Amino acid sequence: MTSVTLVRTLLRASRLPERPRERGILFAALCLITLLTATACTPEMRARAYASDGRADWQQADRVIASLGLESGDRVADLGSGGGYFTFLLADAVGPTGRVYAIDVAEDMNERLAHIAAERGYAQVETVLAEPDDAMIPSGGVDLVFTSNTYHHIDDREIYFRRLSESLSEGGRLAVIDYKEEGFMQGLLGHSTDASLIQTELESAGYELVAQYDFIEKQHFLIFEPGRER
Ligand SMILES: C[S@@+](CC[C@H](N)C(=O)[O-])C[C@H]1O[C@@H](n2cnc3c(N)ncnc32)[C@H](O)[C@@H]1O
Repeated sequence: MTSVTLVRTLLRASRLPERPRERGILFAALCLITLLTATACTPEMRARAYASDGRADWQQADRVIASLGLESGDRVADLGSGGGYFTFLLADAVGPTGRVYAIDVAEDMNERLAHIAAERGYAQVETVLAEPDDAMIPSGGVDLVFTSNTYHHIDDREIYFRRLSESLSEGGRLAVIDYKEEGFMQGLLGHSTDASLIQTELESAGYELVAQYDFIEKQHFLIFEPGRER
């Protein structure tokens, strides 16, 4: 069964609750997807999944990077770096004198990324193992915390991001990209966060919204700075 057929079947099943066969398929598929995304996938499979869904066609990663206004020598945290979709683009933007901390709670993803960084000669990329409630940004701080498709994974976000603001240098910023609540994975499985919720939570955590872009069809993209009371 292709993924398209699977999604069609799931949609049919959700509209026809009286049909036990479809309901069974829906239940089994949800179990399988949950199992695969939670445990069974290798880092390589997860990295491929994060870059799938024709992402190269819609992500506009170069435009995202340009919007960040990074300079050579900047220090950046890629929070929830995963397969490194943005890590090496960030590393190119800050150059060899800069630093990109590829931060993730998944040690196996970090190991994979460190291996690729070494292979490609990206000495400015350093992996950091985060705690679920602490990004563990190295002392000295960063000019930008960039986080893509990870915001929705973080719990107690007001406390988390208030603490994280202490790791931002003077003039430092926080850029958040997360999926809109559309489609199967994002809508039904909750891999998304509404832009107004991101803004409300981060304002409660002491940030001010300084930019919001709408050029990515599938994702929200917001940039914040810590407020003056910091
Ligand atoms: C969907 S992937 C996104 C990867 C990459 N940023 C991208 O855009 O393709 C989410 C990543 O966030 C990581 N993650 C989940 N909770 C986290 C947390 N509390 N702190 C840091 N990373 C976290 C996961 O291990 C996973 O690698």
